[in-house]
Amino acid sequence: MVKKTDISTVTLSNRLAWDATAIEHAQNADWDQLIAGFSNPEFSTFDSTITKVLKDLPIKGQSVVQIGCNNGREILSAISLGASAGFGIDQSNNFIEQAKELTLISGKECNFLTADIYDLPISTPRDFDVALITIGVLNWMPDLVAFFNEIAGLLHSSGKLVIYETHPFLEMFDPDAADPHALNVSYFTDEPYVSEETFVYGDGKPSKAPTSYWFPHRLGEIVNACIQAGLVIDSLVEYPHSNREAEFDVYTNQAAQLPMCFTLTAHKIENNDIGK
Ligand SMILES: C[S@@+](CC[C@H](N)C(=O)[O-])C[C@H]1O[C@@H](n2cnc3c(N)ncnc32)[C@H](O)[C@@H]1O
Repeated sequence: MVKKTDISTVTLSNRLAWDATAIEHAQNADWDQLIAGFSNPEFSTFDSTITKVLKDLPIKGQSVVQIGCNNGREILSAISLGASAGFGIDQSNNFIEQAKELTLISGKECNFLTADIYDLPISTPRDFDVALITIGVLNWMPDLVAFFNEIAGLLHSSGKLVIYETHPFLEMFDPDAADPHALNVSYFTDEPYVSEETFVYGDGKPSKAPTSYWFPHRLGEIVNACIQAGLVIDSLVEYPHSNREAEFDVYTNQAAQLPMCFTLTAHKIENNDIGK
């Protein structure tokens, strides 16, 4: 059984699974929609929740680094919202190649780096105004404290962090179970969810892929890891809507509503704040 401490084993295995997935994503209708969409300079794939958080930041005129940028659709969307510069990091080279293709189509300027966040090259720029993490990234990280230390290291001395992620409570349920509302897994489990299939969204059929590891993290662990990395939390908001795959819609619009996703904003402590 792989352990959280086997960081390089986990990230290598996850990288191979995401590289295999990238080939399938480039063949589905979503990719064609992105190509069509990004020919419009104002096109954005962000929903109204993250759009408001980013506009209120404000993101306009800021340099943004996105960690786990996948095919680049969101870092390009950040530029559509007014970010002055974009930099996407992802360890799947197949997805970074798609991100570069989308960037060319968009006519925007955006840079990308293929790298494991736990093993960034020394030459990585480390003076960004904003670090962005969105749906489906935190659970690939076996060690949250080490992860947020890397994120804090990408920001200049007063840089900000924005997270828009799925809510950890959802990990307790299986939307594909006979009773999707039955409690399936303890909120406090430390066991990763292990898969040997590609990550297909929508109706597509997954195919065989290298083993991947998805780590459940409690909300408190996420908050505490940010704090331990020297980040000051400005807001933590939970929402009843879903930002997950369509099968999770079964949990929305309920009288006894589960939290479905959250946003967290934080900032780095400026050197001259220390000791105040
Ligand atoms: C679910 S996708 C993110 C999708 C993105 N939020 C979006 O909606 O476009 C997760 C991404 O994290 C990347 N990833 C996972 N582990 C990583 C690591 N250790 N370092 C860098 N990227 C990683 C994967 O390659 C994948 O592209």
